[in-house]
Amino acid sequence: MLVLGIETSCDETGVALYDTGTGLLADALHSQVELHALYGGVVPELASRDHVRRLLPLLREVLERSGRSLADVDLVAYTQGPGLGGALLVGASVAAGIALALGKPVAGIHHLEGHLLSPLLAQPAPEFPFVALLVSGGHTQLMRVDGVGRYRLLGETLDDAAGEAFDKTAQLLGLGYPGGPALARLAQGGEARRYDLPRPMAASGDLDFSFSGLKTAVLTRVKAMGEPDAPARRDLAASFQAAIVDVLAAKCMTALRRESLRTLVVAGGVGANEALRARIVADAAAAGASVFFPPMRLCTDNGAMIAFAAALKHPHAGTDAVRDFAILPRWDLEAAAAQSTPRR
Ligand code: KG4
Ligand code: ZN
Repeated sequence: MLVLGIETSCDETGVALYDTGTGLLADALHSQVELHALYGGVVPELASRDHVRRLLPLLREVLERSGRSLADVDLVAYTQGPGLGGALLVGASVAAGIALALGKPVAGIHHLEGHLLSPLLAQPAPEFPFVALLVSGGHTQLMRVDGVGRYRLLGETLDDAAGEAFDKTAQLLGLGYPGGPALARLAQGGEARRYDLPRPMAASGDLDFSFSGLKTAVLTRVKAMGEPDAPARRDLAASFQAAIVDVLAAKCMTALRRESLRTLVVAGGVGANEALRARIVADAAAAGASVFFPPMRLCTDNGAMIAFAAALKHPHAGTDAVRDFAILPRWDLEAAAAQSTPRR
């Protein structure tokens, strides 16, 4: 079965073709980073317009690279939510249009489910059940995953998402958008013990997170310094990164213990953070657990995870896929799993 995946939930246009027999055939991505950099964050209207411009050229690119034609596609999948309404509508409309023209089914996919299942695209792939840490710009959640569509929320952030904390702190340190990768680069070689920053909720006993206080702690330091010099900025970045990594890693280990599981999956944009990866790998090894990450380029938003999730959720595309289309800018993953009985 050949699945076309389309991702347009935020500031990346992603298109991919996944073959259930041979795997990922091609994926293409356009990042809008330069478009939004001028404004210090994503401008929703500009994002939608750029998705309109990029989607069809990217589709042509994946078809060419895979040597397949649109007529070969058995199922068209798109990100249904959560995300920016206008941006989601672009992907949903193009997906529905293609599916209608081809007489093929169309399936709406939950963006986080795409991230959650993307480590299964790596070799070796994890086996169910596992604990998943979802760390993106909009979400920070720990889930227990017992199978495709079987997710239980163990804990989540009460305020900022981990990626949001990276982005906002980066802004405080004078770094541009997107802040996460820039802050991680600045932190390289920095002295992480120079500034004693809080580890919010590290000892709360539950699996929830809170990151807004950490961002405020950095703000207080920056204000106290007036104009921090380059070494101070570098060390602040390293201290912030160490604090966030400490909390994320500690909660992952608690989740594994609580659920008596030995497999951990890390997904979402912040999963690209090298310091987080190294720390989680070390902690998991010490606890006798294994960790799985998506391939590095599939950590952030992409079309491949959408095509792949659709292939897993709708193995019989012709009979059980969704045939209507709608977007859900605010959409809970557990609720999505509970409703995943096919609609027609
Ligand atoms: O999953 P994603 O691409 O989009 C959302 O669904 O939100 O995640 C984007 C987030 C941004 O906040 C970005 O700053 C963060 O992931 N991010 C990173 C790194 N790469 C991306 N944060 C820390 N270190 C990185 N290397
Ligand atoms: Zn994402």
